[in-house]
Amino acid sequence: MADQKTNDLMERIVSLCKRRGFVFQSSEIYGGINGFWDYGPLGAELKRNIKDQWWRTMTQQRDDVAGLEATIIMSPRIWEASGHVQTFADLMVECPVTKKRFRVDQVEESSGIVYKFSGAKDASGKTSADSFEVMVPAGKPKESALKVAKQFYQLRGLPAAEPIDNGEPTKVENSTLYSPDSGARLSDPRPFNLMFKTFVGPVESDDNVAYLRPETAQAIFAQFKNVLETSRQKVPFGICQIGKAFRNEVTPRNFTFRSREFEQMELEFFIRPDEVVEAICGEVAKPKGPGHPGEPQTNWGWQMWHQYWVEERIRFYENIGLPRTTLVEYWQKPEELAHYARATVDILFKFPFSKKNEKGELMGEELEGVAARSDFDLSQHQRFSGKSQGVFDEELKAGWAKLTPEKQADLTKRYYETRHKYLTRTGVHPEQVERTAKDDAAGLAKGNYIPHVIEPSAGVDRLMLALICNAYAEELAPDEKGKMETRVVLKFHPRIAPIKVAVFPLLKNRPELVKKAMEVRDLLRPYMTVFYDEAGAIGRRYRRQDEAGTPFGITIDFETLGENAPDQKDTVTLRDRDTMSQTRVNIKDLLGVLLEKVR
Ligand code: GAP
Repeated sequence: MADQKTNDLMERIVSLCKRRGFVFQSSEIYGGINGFWDYGPLGAELKRNIKDQWWRTMTQQRDDVAGLEATIIMSPRIWEASGHVQTFADLMVECPVTKKRFRVDQVEESSGIVYKFSGAKDASGKTSADSFEVMVPAGKPKESALKVAKQFYQLRGLPAAEPIDNGEPTKVENSTLYSPDSGARLSDPRPFNLMFKTFVGPVESDDNVAYLRPETAQAIFAQFKNVLETSRQKVPFGICQIGKAFRNEVTPRNFTFRSREFEQMELEFFIRPDEVVEAICGEVAKPKGPGHPGEPQTNWGWQMWHQYWVEERIRFYENIGLPRTTLVEYWQKPEELAHYARATVDILFKFPFSKKNEKGELMGEELEGVAARSDFDLSQHQRFSGKSQGVFDEELKAGWAKLTPEKQADLTKRYYETRHKYLTRTGVHPEQVERTAKDDAAGLAKGNYIPHVIEPSAGVDRLMLALICNAYAEELAPDEKGKMETRVVLKFHPRIAPIKVAVFPLLKNRPELVKKAMEVRDLLRPYMTVFYDEAGAIGRRYRRQDEAGTPFGITIDFETLGENAPDQKDTVTLRDRDTMSQTRVNIKDLLGVLLEKVR
């Protein structure tokens, strides 16, 4: 359970988010709707900056990644092929008294005394044979257990229920079988599909069912061939997308961390299967140790690509102000891997609400998963759509012809075996497995194969929350009279700060100062977000911008007008949010100075 200090810190962060217009509860005037959040003026800017940084880094600054923007509602066949219709479920338990649902893996352990009842009767002669158990904290009287049991039987139609004891109460320790709400024994776990269902067109029938996408990735797979054919890309290359995703989470929690509507930033990076790399290069390069493996090479196998993308993604986070020390690289254990994944690294951020290990260190929560997904997704879409998702690779065809017959036989066998495994696992009829795997393996000689994929998949909202938590600081700083006060400051990296610079005339009743300040605002505005503020004492104005995370403040004072010191005419003070130091900068140099810092 999170300690009080953590709760207080999160409360202060949540309160700042509301107070300063980063995050609002969706539909707040109607009491809100659980798991949905709106972004206010500062939040909208911050979110846009995060997405812009990601888009620039992942596609605009690379030759080998193309962008896509697909629809949220797609053919339901896509979700059959991806496995979401059958398996995208959380195991859920329900409290029989409060009807509240919990994810099985999120029920907190509790200890206490368990009272058992075999049923109940009431004065009117009505009976219930449903058994019931409830845990109450040690030391509480039996009446507490009876109270909950009565509520349980009332829900079964016995308004004045008299629960019937079923043996002696027992002591139970560290159990997850009892409701954190009422202490009642939770229901058996049931799978609960997380996809939001809707209907396309005016008729609400099974034929018209559609789903709000639970991830953006599948659209990329479904459009793989179109992008390949229109973008002049060749494997290895990637397709990336930013967009909304929807999951009917059983227990949305931790502010925006687990929401029901959120945004993802996903890259599907298509690579050659290792057998193809070996046919072309004679060998497959594998990681020699941890760290960034450098610029991509033709002989890289999936493990090099996987490590490359993990490291690229960590660099991205560092670049926008999340130091490596705030992140954890978690390699999923074999038993945790999705059935199609060969390896997955979760990049975790140490949120204030993260669990702590035995040393008291925060363990972190997932910001992003980087998965090596083999050729599962394209293979599934090929099977379900009947349209080939394979590629023709000129270099493979040429390389294959130069191999010895033994090498050809060896690679063919290995490729056949992996295809055989995939087809068998996905339930294809054994006879067809044999035939298809053989055809697939024979395709290598002609230069054909289905690409494998490495998928870095990040959440915008989680990253935004991580950036806010990381930036939040409370510090002692002198006010205008030199008295120490607590200043709340969001120390965002200038690259993602919602407002880059605030412009203040020292006094609002001096038209020359106001005119000059507006000139400075207009000079900078085409290049960055600028906030003009003339209201209140200058110290208050600084504090307001500190809370908004604005990295720079410009004050136009009498020196700017050349009134006190002629040599300072047309200079302004440039205040640094973090050090609070002020330097004088010539107005003509301002744009260059600031652009260097915010880009
Ligand atoms: N295509 C792979 C995929 O969707 P995921 O781990 O389920 O993988 C990827 O989701 C990322 O999306 C997560 O790392 C997280 O940042 C974000 N995400 C997932 N569920 C979320 C939720 N309920 N609320 C906010 N973000 C979520």
